Amino acid sequence: MKRYRRLRKNQNIRNLVSNFKININNFIYPLFIEEGENIKEEIKSMPGQYRFSIDKLNDELDELYALGVKNLLLFGIPKHKNSCGSEAYNDNGIIQQAIKYIKKYNPNFLIISDVCMCEYTSHGHCGILENDDVNNDETLKKLGEIALSHAKAGADIIAPSDMMDGRIGYIREILDNNGYKDIPIMAYSVKYASNFYGPFRDAADSAPSFGDRKTYQMDYKRDSREAIDIALNDIKNGADIIMVKPAIAYLDIISKLREKIYTPIAAYCVSGEYSMIKAAAMNGWLNEKNIVIEKINSLQRAGVDIIISYHTKDIAKWIMDGEI
Ligand code: PBG
Repeated sequence: MKRYRRLRKNQNIRNLVSNFKININNFIYPLFIEEGENIKEEIKSMPGQYRFSIDKLNDELDELYALGVKNLLLFGIPKHKNSCGSEAYNDNGIIQQAIKYIKKYNPNFLIISDVCMCEYTSHGHCGILENDDVNNDETLKKLGEIALSHAKAGADIIAPSDMMDGRIGYIREILDNNGYKDIPIMAYSVKYASNFYGPFRDAADSAPSFGDRKTYQMDYKRDSREAIDIALNDIKNGADIIMVKPAIAYLDIISKLREKIYTPIAAYCVSGEYSMIKAAAMNGWLNEKNIVIEKINSLQRAGVDIIISYHTKDIAKWIMDGEI
């Protein structure tokens, strides 16, 4: 009889054959920056996550840096929204200011900027509307301006999350033509019209005021072929990192992509995934640390290289305290 339990006998022997390590360098922490002063406001639906105004960022940045959390994904919440989301490509807008501020405060942070319009448009959709739907090609022009303004402000990586067709090639060309050939694009390539984004839309004040995002984000009621096709197309057009979003319900997609592409894969553990774990943990219904680690291990098995997670600070603390 093959006795599998021999290698499970005690912690030492389990450690010997374990082949997953959790390294904080592979994690990205999302930060919400709100225009205004003196703001550090907890997001109701995401306990432990905050919106910060720039003047309240220092303590948070110091804490993150001390924990070894250096990769930040920035989302901006402007004071003023309009139908064309013009604050998104204002060189002096909230996110552009935040990028400059963080880079100056501590240049060792890696700043990844989310390129989208939903936090900036009065209607909450991810682009320019025409007849109540987002016009793809008009939106591309704006996305190009947004990406360029982020690059000018000092972003290290540009991360388009809008889901317009052709955006990766379009943004790549604009960056290249303006002297930003070396700025990588982390493409939200495989982004589903998911129900798991609810708490984020509270956090970023970006829920669509009518309809939904199903004409531009992907339909999860399909098999994996579209995901693979999109990823290959984005790679051909200049994507340096391919993201899958959400993470937990899409491990099959990640694992299939892993077999087909050589580009690094990032998984976004989105707001709903975080809030579900938090809520259960706060009720004492499950052990937060163990659940988070188990989830990370599942992503590692599926084949991800990079994990975007609201739990990143906790993970860093657990690593520091020798708990993982
Ligand atoms: C912007 C964007 C969204 C998220 C990341 N970028 C919201 C959306 O597409 O509605 C969701 C992130 C999360 O839920 O944590 N388009």
